[in-house]
Amino acid sequence: MAAPFDKYKKDINRSTFVRYNENYLVGTFGSADVTPFWVADSDFIVMPELVKALKKTAKRGLYPYELKTPEIKQPLIDWFKKRHKININLDGLLFTTSVNSGLAATIDELTAKGDGIIIQPPVFQGFKGIIKGVGRKVVNNKLTLKDGKYEINFSDLEKKAADKKNTAMVLCSPHNPVGRVWTQQELEKIAEICIANNVLMLSDEIHADIIYSKATFIGMTEVYKGKSDNIIMLGSAGKSFGIPGLVDSFMYTPNPVLKKKIQERIMRFHLGKSNAFGNAALKTVYTHGNKWLDKKLNYLEKTVSAIEAYLAKNIPEITLTIPEGTYQVWLDFNKVTKNDEELKELLYKKAKLGITLGTEYGIGGKGYARMNIASPRPMILKALAKLKKALNNFVII
Ligand SMILES: Cc1ncc(COP(=O)(O)O)c(C=O)c1O
Repeated sequence: MAAPFDKYKKDINRSTFVRYNENYLVGTFGSADVTPFWVADSDFIVMPELVKALKKTAKRGLYPYELKTPEIKQPLIDWFKKRHKININLDGLLFTTSVNSGLAATIDELTAKGDGIIIQPPVFQGFKGIIKGVGRKVVNNKLTLKDGKYEINFSDLEKKAADKKNTAMVLCSPHNPVGRVWTQQELEKIAEICIANNVLMLSDEIHADIIYSKATFIGMTEVYKGKSDNIIMLGSAGKSFGIPGLVDSFMYTPNPVLKKKIQERIMRFHLGKSNAFGNAALKTVYTHGNKWLDKKLNYLEKTVSAIEAYLAKNIPEITLTIPEGTYQVWLDFNKVTKNDEELKELLYKKAKLGITLGTEYGIGGKGYARMNIASPRPMILKALAKLKKALNNFVII
């Protein structure tokens, strides 16, 4: 019998799914005739308890305005305590529509127009869009690649943090797309620099649950404990449980002044509306999701190994940065293509794969592409076979 994560649900209409929508595919890849592995969501069927809880909610037949009561919040708090040793105080917890909306509202509320916001490219492309969208300046602290592993350039970070114009940093922890799970030592160093320079820490921990066996996730709020409370953590159950279209997101800060300001902003702009299905989902996944998530992580880690083995055997000129977390793999095409045009030709036209070009993630992304692997493994291996075939016929000039 196929493993539950090996199943791809056929016969469902995916036209409203961002990942599969034809217009989106044409707009992004020039054609709808690509197998999509781009948007960071998942093809896996969700945990059975969740479907049951949603059916129960549907059967109510009543969908009035909803609240996030302690009954919804407590399982989230317990989850972070048990799974990650992160202590979230009920008083500092806030909810917004999405991590992106929370980030945009927070940057707009807590920094001034024209301020520099530090990010670490190659990094989730949403950061750049949000920072520019609210009239702030992107300040790059580029990651460096050393012996196949991405590292932080701390002397550059120190320089950028010391510049008074740069008032906040958006940390991607774990890091999308390079898959780093930052160590205690690395986080402490970042914290030390930001605290010394009064740079507000915005720690995007949306991928906190997607951690593989060799790494341990450490919450930045725990690192800050006893040192400073100039920090906001952002998170969501969306990636962990394959439900970004179902749940809203949350923020946590131990700082009552920051909390009050963000809460007022959320209220002024009406960014905090709950819905019955999202609430039921949050309560269910954080109460019953432990074992299911462990199985999913085990499946994903085996997929990473399968990709590594396939590439080494069949296309050794393409290498991957082994992820410590997240379900993204960062593939290096520098040996097979010279520029974005060639990479697009290879991926979109020849292999017909909807994989995101590395340059989308800012500087440091040239010659790379990010593949979302939260799909049944046979689909991933089929995609790699298409890539191999395309490369066999691809003339490198
Ligand atoms: C690091 C990171 N932050 C934020 C988001 C977006 O989250 P949301 O859909 O809750 O806005 C993503 C989605 O891929 C992400 O990878």
